[in-house]
Formats: sequence, structure tokens, C-alpha cells
Amino acid sequence: MPDHVFQSYGVHRWGAGMFARLPNGDMGLVNPARPDAPAASLPVLLHALDARGIHTPVLVRVGAFLKRQLEALNTSFARAIEANGYQAPYRGVFPIKVNQQAEVIDRIVEYGRPYQFGLEAGSKPELILALSRDLPKGALLICNGIKDAEFIRLGILARKAGINCVLVIESPGEADTVIAEAKRLGEKPALGVRIKLTRRVSGNWADSSGDRSTFGLTTKEVVDLVEKLRAEDMLDCLVLQHSHLGSQVPQMMDIRQAVDEACRFYTELRRLGVPLTYLDLGGGLGIDYTGEARATDNSMNYTMEEYCANVVETVKYQMDEAEVPHPTLVTESGRAIVAYSSMLLSDILEASYFDRSAPTTPEADDHHMLSDMAAIVDYLSPRRLQECLNDAEYYREELRALFRRGVIGIEEVARAEQIFLYVVGRIKDVVAQTPDVPQEVLEELSAHRDIYRANFSLFQSLPDVWAIDQLVPIAPLQRLNETPTRRAVLSDITCDSDGKIDQFVLGDGVGNALPIHQLNAGERYFIGIFLVGAYQETLGDLHNLFGDTNIVTVDFNEDGVLEIQHEVEGDTVSEVMAYVEYEPKQCLDAFKRIVERGVQSGTLNPSQRRMLMETYRHALGGYTYYEHEEHTNG
Ligand SMILES: Cc1ncc(COP(=O)(O)O)c(C=O)c1O
Repeated sequence: MPDHVFQSYGVHRWGAGMFARLPNGDMGLVNPARPDAPAASLPVLLHALDARGIHTPVLVRVGAFLKRQLEALNTSFARAIEANGYQAPYRGVFPIKVNQQAEVIDRIVEYGRPYQFGLEAGSKPELILALSRDLPKGALLICNGIKDAEFIRLGILARKAGINCVLVIESPGEADTVIAEAKRLGEKPALGVRIKLTRRVSGNWADSSGDRSTFGLTTKEVVDLVEKLRAEDMLDCLVLQHSHLGSQVPQMMDIRQAVDEACRFYTELRRLGVPLTYLDLGGGLGIDYTGEARATDNSMNYTMEEYCANVVETVKYQMDEAEVPHPTLVTESGRAIVAYSSMLLSDILEASYFDRSAPTTPEADDHHMLSDMAAIVDYLSPRRLQECLNDAEYYREELRALFRRGVIGIEEVARAEQIFLYVVGRIKDVVAQTPDVPQEVLEELSAHRDIYRANFSLFQSLPDVWAIDQLVPIAPLQRLNETPTRRAVLSDITCDSDGKIDQFVLGDGVGNALPIHQLNAGERYFIGIFLVGAYQETLGDLHNLFGDTNIVTVDFNEDGVLEIQHEVEGDTVSEVMAYVEYEPKQCLDAFKRIVERGVQSGTLNPSQRRMLMETYRHALGGYTYYEHEEHTNG
């Protein structure tokens, strides 16, 4: 069976070999340790979860995918270091903000142990979390972000407990607090300095780079800091230079040039006598969300191996030129490690087909424009496609205006809508058989897409898709050996017109409609939204009070079988009510009093009252998402 359906979703381009089509058409997860073994079916997993009472939407994390990415990053750096004769190691850290969930952080610490992989904390809560995770000896704990005295104290004293904590000075004022705290404690901290690079990188996060970046010290401030530390006899504390390159940087050239500039600062600081030994390049290593391998916001024109090789090569060259010992290389790659490992799986609840209806005949006293619209099919031909489409749209608009002004009634406008659908359906038929259809016709027709409603909240689960037009791959999880006949936009279940996805990663680029199958009655239809492990889990909000989804962690066991290893139930209605300051028990009591009034006035009988209260109480403890009646949550 050819893979053209599977490939039409671009899985072979963005999936990095982690997903495969099973012979029955299911989407499967490939075991990175046994890539030739049959993949594990995602629909089978969803049915197994369902049987355990864990319903869609569910966020599935795959331990093996996390491990694979973490190993790939470390081994790529090790290979580049070896190949270039670089004289210092790589010691990466994971920026906690990219995915703070305990299951994720604990696995990163575990999988990173052989590589002395550390963590980056961008706030006091993240530091407190990081300090509790037994990091391997030698691993770094980099402290970024604005730090108060307590944060700094923790960072200084943690070193006494053997934790390799480095406090990165983010502003001139922070240096004073660090110096004061160090003196008060009589201890020398390990310090870093965040330097603002002047090079701006391209991409969605361009503003976090270059002069306009809000973080880091300017060149003058760096020089002042060096003198201040020297005067305080603390220059020996300054061991790390932090120069964050950006996030999701699509161009290799940008990375090279930014690394070049970072190296110039490093070698100059060494010349001033600063005993730097670590060069931290921050984030920036991208994910090819579209699989296009292009320098666009959601893609990248390089691979992880190329990134590592270029970084090592550039730093080596610059250091050798300046005769400076090679620094230990640090990066804070977040998305490159976690994006692949999480996917949001959901099901389609219903579809509104923008279909050609059966031919509808206007009634005798209908407005003449209904017959005019119906007559379009008489002159429809390949050469008059645009004209026919214009006419159909014109008549529909005019008839809608007549309805608004009270000239025609609801049945008449309903007939007009049917005729319109029929005419557009006929136009689509001609388009399908016509080469070189004008682009405008295709664009206009593509606006007439089906709407598939999926059980999730864009605002809760895919905030970057909503806020910054991030693209993430989406594909059905079954029937991948059956050509999809529909083209749809996806709508979520929030009652917000922004709660939709209308840009899709496809096998031949980005399109405005998702190829999807016609739903079969009585059959569940699952979809997967992939590469969502970075940033999405905690940025989400409670729009419409849709809470956290169910989460499961799965992994391949020693026999290569996919196991459910950990589950976290999503928020209940009571929980989300409590987040917005309602006390569920008080709501229940208040509702009881209101219902009782209904019984007193005779509008509600006692057994209806009981059913109403039971339903309310049950819903309070249930899932915030659409629940299929035969299996309610909790
Ligand atoms: C200081 C710092 N380090 C690391 C990262 C992680 O970047 P990425 O997820 O692109 O690797 C960020 C994100 O912007 C950041 O601000």
C-alpha cells in the first residue's frame, strides 16, 4: 500500500522517523531503540486509555522520544568536539520554563545523567524545583532571570552542598545585590554575565535577540561590571558568559554570526583578566515543525548535527585565533529536547460539511434572484469559472440583505443557501477537471471548507498556535490508507471564533485546509496534534474554563511493548472553578436553594429535583471537556 495518504500530512518530513503508518492505516509510534519493529498504534492506545477512564483530549508524552532527543543533542556535540579536536566538553542544561512538569524534568535529569546534563532556572520557583532534583555531579544549574536576595542566597549556599549553581547577572543592579549577599555570607559565588549581542536573528522570536532584547548587559555595562568585581576582589567568581542566541532560529547563518559575536566578547573578557571557563549560548536550536527544511518561522535550514558542528567549529576557530583556552560549551536548548515527546490526541465530535446539496428548485413566488442563482449552472464552463463564482456570491449576498431588511422570509433564504451550495459544488466539479484554474478561483473556493469540531481548547492546549500563529503538524490517527475526501478547518469546543486552526502542515507545504475523512456513523475519529512538548503545557489558559487535559506518559518496555507508565487526571470542573475563586461547595448549596424554590412553586417535582442535583454534583467532579455519555470521567 503506497504511503501517499500518510505522506500528504508531511509525517515523513516533520516526524523525524518517530511515526509510522501501520498496515491497518493507524498512526503508530516508532520505538527509537527498535526502529524496524512494528510501530505502536495510537488508536489502540486511546482505546486502552478509554477503558481505564482516561478520555480525550489527552496529552501523551513518550519517554523514549525525550530520551532520543536528549541523547541526539549530547552525542552530536560529542561528535563535533571529537571531529574538531576541541579541547573542552559540552555541558548542556534544560531550561525548566520550556516544560516544567515533574515527569518531564525527572526524565531529563535521569536520561541526562551520563552526559552531566543540568538545568536552567529562570525564576525562584524554578530554582527551588531544580534544587530538589539530585543533579549529576558536575552538571550545571544556571540561574537566569531577575533575582532577589533570597534567590541569590540560595544560589550561593547551594554550592556548599555540591550543586554547581551559577548566578547569571542580568542587570547592573543585580550585581550589587549579589556582591552584598556574598559578603554577608562570607562566600564566593560562581557568577555568569548575560551579554546582549548586537546581532539580531530572524524568526518568530527575533525581538528576544539583538539590541532590542530586554535582557542582558550592554557592552559598557559589562565593562563596568568587570571593574566593579575587580574592585570587590570578586573577579575570580565570574566564570560564565551567557549570550542567549534566541529561540527557534531558522537560519544557520544567523546562529554562526551570533556565536561569532559571543566569542568576541569571550576573548575580550579573557584579555581583561576575567577567568571565564564556560560559554553559554542559550536557546535557539530549532524544530522543523513544517518539515520543509527552509529558513521560515516554523522551519529551519539546518539539522541538529549541523548546529552542533557549526557551534563547535566557530568557537574553536575564534578561541584559537585569540589563543584562549577552549571554553566548556553550554547550551540551553529547550524545544529541541521536548517538542517531539508530547502530542495532544483528541477526537472529532462532529463535522459541518460544506457540501453540494441536492439541486433545489425555487418556489413559484420566490424572489427572482433564486432562479437567477440556480441558472448559473446553465452557463458554467471551464472558461467562465470566475464569473460563475462571482455571480453565485453576488446573489447570495443580495438575498441575505433582503432577508435582513425583512423582504424575504427564513424559508426562502434557506432555499437560497441550498442553491448556493449546489452551484458551488458544480463549480468545484468543473475545477477538478480543469488545468490551470486561476489562483483567485482556487483561493475563493478554499474558503468553502468543512468545519470539523475537535474536543480540545486551543487556548488551553495550543496557546502559541492562537497567539503567534505557530504551526504544528496535525494528522488523523486512523484510515491512513484511505484517501481523505474532505478538506476542513478544525474548530475547538470553546465558544470563541479564534478557537480554530486553519493553517496546516502538509506534505507539499502549508495549506489552509486539512485533508480529512468523511466521518463514519458510530465510529470514533481521532486526530493527533504533534510536536507540542515545548512551552504549550503551562502557557495555556482557562478560556471558557476548559482546564488541564488528562496526561499520560507512555514508554516502550524492554520487550518493545508500549506501556502506560504514569497518568495525571485533568482538571475537574470544581478545580477550575476554584482557580477563578468560586467555592464549589458554596455553589452547590446556592444551587440547591434555587432548585428548592422551584419545588416550592411546583415547577419541579421532587424526583426531577433529585436528578438535577445529582447531575450538577456529578458534573462538578467531572472533566471540563466534552464527555461521551457512556463513559463519564470520574
Ligand atoms: C534564556 C533562555 N534560555 C533558553 C531558552 C530556550 O530556547 P529554545 O526553546 O528555543 O531552545 C530561552 C527561550 O527563549 C531563553 O530565554
